[in-house]
Amino acid sequence: MNTNNNNSTTHHKIYWDNAANMQALQAESIDLVVTSPPYPMIEMWDEIFAEQDVAVKKALEKGDGPASFEAMHQILDKVWSEVYRVLKVGGIACINIGDATRTIEKHFRLYSNHARILQYCISLGFSNLPTILWRKQTNAPNKFMGSGMLPPGAYVTLEHEYILILRKGNKRNFKTAAEKLNRSESAYFWEERNLWFSDIWDLKGVKQRLNSQKTRDRSAAYPFELAYRLVNMFSVKGDTVLDPFLGTATTTLAAIASKRNSIGFEIDPQLEETISEQILAPNLPTASYDFLQKRIARHLDFVHQRQLLKGAKAFKYESLHYGFRVITRQEVKIRFEGLKEVKKLKNTTMEFEAEYEEYRF
Ligand SMILES: C[S@@+](CC[C@H](N)C(=O)[O-])C[C@H]1O[C@@H](n2cnc3c(N)ncnc32)[C@H](O)[C@@H]1O
Repeated sequence: MNTNNNNSTTHHKIYWDNAANMQALQAESIDLVVTSPPYPMIEMWDEIFAEQDVAVKKALEKGDGPASFEAMHQILDKVWSEVYRVLKVGGIACINIGDATRTIEKHFRLYSNHARILQYCISLGFSNLPTILWRKQTNAPNKFMGSGMLPPGAYVTLEHEYILILRKGNKRNFKTAAEKLNRSESAYFWEERNLWFSDIWDLKGVKQRLNSQKTRDRSAAYPFELAYRLVNMFSVKGDTVLDPFLGTATTTLAAIASKRNSIGFEIDPQLEETISEQILAPNLPTASYDFLQKRIARHLDFVHQRQLLKGAKAFKYESLHYGFRVITRQEVKIRFEGLKEVKKLKNTTMEFEAEYEEYRF
């Protein structure tokens, strides 16, 4: 409805480097971190940890589970220290991590990755904020481990992962009128708030098979929706989002779709083809428009249902740019931008620019 021309761009850069040393990034230059590290004590990551520190290899060879766990976490610790350094005061780090169960030398136990990461991040100075449990129900026939129907040797199935939410320092301030307006335009709907800020997320996992022959079989990617929600919950348009364990670049895609800038670090250069294909996919602008359209369609459906239930008193406010009803004053200035195009910047290895246009409702 609004015909203002709001064309603009965001910038996305990928470093093929170990995130234990992000010296390319200045201290306090990042607004938000959204990431998922390799999970210690999950076998698919043994090699990548062992390549980074021989202590991991030695502990695994000795069959020493706790020592392997600790050595793997000491590798991740270096990255969390860097994350703390590069985050702005008031910036947030969202870390998706699952615990691991493993039998080593006939000894079955739980390796509590989320607790170990929390402990270290709190020691760095992070404030721990309420955590999200990502419920990942499985129907696999072998999901129950241990002694079956005979007590007491059966084990509870792990069907969730954690999203740790940590803040550096106190709440972020929006001082100038322009910053306040941008924050209002970055708002989400009331009913999205109710869903996104609930502590259990029931999101389906994603297809794990990587097509490229060059790299590992499975992507270990998280769903786009997971990254998209976190980006929209904890940053505003034009912010810079960092993923130090970029993988297939799901975080970059969520940042692009949300009009945020992004930076990724990835140690495995063989993922280059997969990442390029994702970011430069010809259907990305359409997919991102569809995603916005679905958000709006869900909102219109919510409005309709609430009006049926509560009649004329259901809504006090109206969206400034789109004319539909909204529940709160905070939603009035919500504004969406459609992705027009993503292009690789000339003479660079992995730098991209995304261009936006006013979303036509
Ligand atoms: C769990 S995957 C991330 C998946 C990603 N969230 C996605 O949606 O595709 C972890 C990634 O971290 C990378 N990695 C492991 N150690 C690293 C390090 N020290 N620095 C940078 N990347 C690392 C691995 O190669 C892997 O691609």
